[in-house]
Amino acid sequence: MNDRNESAEPRAGLRIGDAAPNFSARSTMGPVELADFRGRWVMLFSHPADFTPVCTSEFIALAKAADEFERRDCALVALSIDSLFSHFAWLRLIRDKFATEVRFPVVEDPTMVIGRAYGMVARGDNDSATVRTTFFIDPRGIIRAMTCYPANVGRSIPELLRTLDALQAVDRDGMLAPANWQVGDPLLHPVTTDIEEIFSDEDAGSWFLREAPR
Ligand code: BEZ
Repeated sequence: MNDRNESAEPRAGLRIGDAAPNFSARSTMGPVELADFRGRWVMLFSHPADFTPVCTSEFIALAKAADEFERRDCALVALSIDSLFSHFAWLRLIRDKFATEVRFPVVEDPTMVIGRAYGMVARGDNDSATVRTTFFIDPRGIIRAMTCYPANVGRSIPELLRTLDALQAVDRDGMLAPANWQVGDPLLHPVTTDIEEIFSDEDAGSWFLREAPR
């Protein structure tokens, strides 16, 4: 931790809409400072430990999908409490055994100062590993979505991409993304709060549930 890291204290729960705490740290791709990604989307995600089965499967899947994130102008930044040298050894093994190069930065957080600031460290756990959290941070540095999975269940990369697509679509069009929305599906209009509009609409339901033209 150094003076670029905003807080050495655990945050009492980051929420959607909060500014993502800045940090700088060593990573497998050199020094990383979160603020340097301003202007791009960032998917910051933690994993419990290097050299573990589910985490390895996630890293292989994410490395294979890295171009998809790049196409959406979204930087991938991974983090765990393991040391930089552990990260290097693990990524080397993934390359040699699974023919997959992980080229996104994997941050070391051995003191857990970043993990604690983001609420990534499991509370009450006997071991201090980070859990499987994912933060989508928008180009202004604001947390827009977050997920938390347990150590024994891996994340769905198609769902992460869908979430990113939905966040970008609602920002672009000022609309809402309904359940199971995928790129190409209609978005929904935000709800009117004008009672004249609500009473004058011929269709009793369309004031609160109305598809936008594609
Ligand atoms: C895994 O990635 O497979 C894993 C990590 C920590 C605890 C259990 C499983």
